[in-house]
Order: sequence, then C-alpha cells, then structure tokens
Amino acid sequence: LIEKIRGLEIIDSRGNPTIRVFVKTKDNIEAFGDAPAGASKGTREAVEVRDSNGLTVKKAVDIVNYIIDPALRGFDVRDQSKIDKTLIEMDSTENKSKLGGNTTIATSIAVLKTAAKALGLEVFKYISGPRYPRIPIPLLNIINGGLHAGNKLKIQEFIIIPVKFNTFKEALFAAIDVYKNLKSLIAERFGKIYTAVGDEGGFSPPLETTRDALDLLYTSIKNSGYENQIFIGMDAASTDFYDEKRKTYNIDSKELSEDQLFEYYLQLSNQYPILYLEDPFEENSFEKFAELQKELKNTIVTGDDLYTTNIKYLKIGIEKKSTKGVIVKPNQIGTITETFEFIDLARRNSIKTIVSHRSGETEDSFIADFAIGESSDFIKTGAPARGERTSKYNRLLEIENKYELEYNGKYFSI
Ligand code: PGA
Ligand code: ZN
Repeated sequence: LIEKIRGLEIIDSRGNPTIRVFVKTKDNIEAFGDAPAGASKGTREAVEVRDSNGLTVKKAVDIVNYIIDPALRGFDVRDQSKIDKTLIEMDSTENKSKLGGNTTIATSIAVLKTAAKALGLEVFKYISGPRYPRIPIPLLNIINGGLHAGNKLKIQEFIIIPVKFNTFKEALFAAIDVYKNLKSLIAERFGKIYTAVGDEGGFSPPLETTRDALDLLYTSIKNSGYENQIFIGMDAASTDFYDEKRKTYNIDSKELSEDQLFEYYLQLSNQYPILYLEDPFEENSFEKFAELQKELKNTIVTGDDLYTTNIKYLKIGIEKKSTKGVIVKPNQIGTITETFEFIDLARRNSIKTIVSHRSGETEDSFIADFAIGESSDFIKTGAPARGERTSKYNRLLEIENKYELEYNGKYFSI
C-alpha cells in the first residue's frame, strides 16, 4: 500500500529541469519514474506543467506533493489501472493540463516500478505476465536534423534498422559498426569537428539535402557489409517544416505541395531501402498518410504526431487505413494504463508498435523494460551514444543475456 509519493526536480539530457516521482509503500519498497520531454511535440499531446519561466517544474513538484500524494495514499501499488483512473479523474481535462502530463506519467511509471519491486519481479516480467516476450528491433537515429540539430536538414531523423540478425546483441553491434563507419566518413568529408553529436546521439554533419544524408547513410551501411541486413528509416517530423498558411512543405530549399512531397518520397523509396517512414505529412493528414501507405507496400508508414499515443486518433487512422505503424510514447498520453490500451488497439488491428523515447531523456531505462514487456515490434531510442540512450540499449542487452529471450528481427515480416 502506498505510504508516500514525492516529487523532485531533476535534469534531462538537454540540461532542462524535469520531474522525478518517488513512490514508497508501507513496507518501505520504493521506486521512481521520470518524465521525458519532446522538442518536436504533437499538438494533441498531454501538456506539461511548467513554471511561468517555461523551464522549471516547481509547480509540478508541488502538485505531486500536495495533490497527488494525499489522494493516492493507501492505494495498492499493484492496482495500476485504478490509480491511473484516479489521476485521470482528478485531472479531468482532455490533455492533462491541470495536473500535467509530466507529473501523471512520472507517477504512473513510479507506481508500476514500485509494484514490480514489491513483487520481486523484473519490470518487464511484471508487465508481460505469463506471456513470453521478445526483444524488439531497434531503430537507431544516427543522423540528426530538424529541431534536434543545428544543420540544414529538414528531415529530423535518419535511422538504421538492423533486422536480419539472430540476436539483439548481434543486431546492435552491427549497427554500431555502421555508426563508426559513418563517423569516419564524416571526419574525412567535412573534418573531425563535425563528428559532434545532436540531441539523440546521432551525428549532425553540415549536409544540405535529404538525398545527401541518405547517400551518406547508405554508403556507411554498404561499407560495413550489411546491405542485406540493415535497412533505412526516416522520421520526417514534417509538421515542423509545414507552412500552415500556404499549405506547403519547405524542404531541401524547395517549397513543395503535398502531392510534390508525396512524389519525392516515392522517388527516395525507389533509390534507397526505406523500410520505415514516420510522420511524412503534417499531423492532420490522415488521408495522405493512407495514400502513401497504399503506394509503399514494403514500408512501414508510421504515425507519431498523427496519433500522439491517443486511441481517439488511432481509431481515425484505423478507419482510414493511414499507417502500418504507430509510435508509442507514454508521456504523450500521460498514464501507463492509457498507453496499454493504445497498444492493445494497435495490436488488434495488426498495426506494428514502436515504443519510443523522447529527445529530452533521463538515464532511466524504463522504456526498455516496457517495450520488452509489451513485446513491441520495435524500440526507438536514439544512437548508440550518450548515456541516456545507452542506458536503454544496455538494459536490452542485459535482459536478452539473462533471460535468453528471442530477437524479433528473426521473425520480422511486413
Ligand atoms: P521529440 O522527437 O521527442 O523531440 O518530440 C521524437 C520524435 O519526433 O519521434
Ligand atoms: Zn517522431
């Protein structure tokens, strides 16, 4: 039973304040949950509570200590859905703006981790229950653009996907070969100073166009000898280069209409092995996503800002057949229970799930356990660099090694 809940202001990987919540039971079992923070957020995401300077989270800490703590004392930590439901009712808004999605998700994660600890279970085991989980395929963002970097690339993320390997360990280390190879290529071509990394640990060389980045990425995959095993993905995060007034996309020094951008994606897909394409159009374009998905049969078109981990929008996507993939970010919706419901709905409709970090992260590895526990198809957690990204990869390695779980890549098909 919960004895105390308290909030603490900590810092995330961009040096910004964020909230950590501790939950303690009467038996002195304690665990914490952290709120990550996005940079390219979807409009329909749960809202963070921050102080009037827009940065610190003292108000959120007060909400935890003076509103959430007294309300949840005495609850059974194993009763995740009842606790989450109480948070949702206390908040009473559509987008968690009263309590803050950051305070509710940190609390919700802390409750789950405390329950696992109280039962003496690994977090992923507590989540999976009697199901036999697998290790998800990692999507490694190794060239950063958009809001995550200072270069001119409009596409936010250039991703490598090590699919055809027998184990997660082999897959990850092959991806690291490509990452190292890319680093050498960048050093040769632009100078060593450009091997510094962006927010998610990917390089952010002074490239100008999408094609330049894809060329460089593909060259490093080929140089490493993994052409038939490692594929390419992109997160366009296109809302960030969409001009709402003119209804156009500003990309690669051109102003493209929706149809021209559509054609551009088709051309790129003919030239490169693009297996994954996230948020190709702005966040309300359910129909255009569907058209593209229909055309690109061998690509997992995926919605991130399109759905914001909210079943209300996923239902629209299902009806319109918008995408074969969904991004799952617990902090976009604000509680673990709602995140479970979102994954269930995607599953029931044969949509692939991609559990994802945020660009502002902490060193907590919770989403690694979460992705395995839910047997998600993929996990998206940045480059194999920077502690807040490697903590997730290292946890996946640890679980694979200790529990001899199978790697999803072995069974992958679109
Ligand atoms: P964000 O970006 O965490 O900055 O929102 C990640 C993404 O768009 O997938
Ligand atoms: Zn995204």
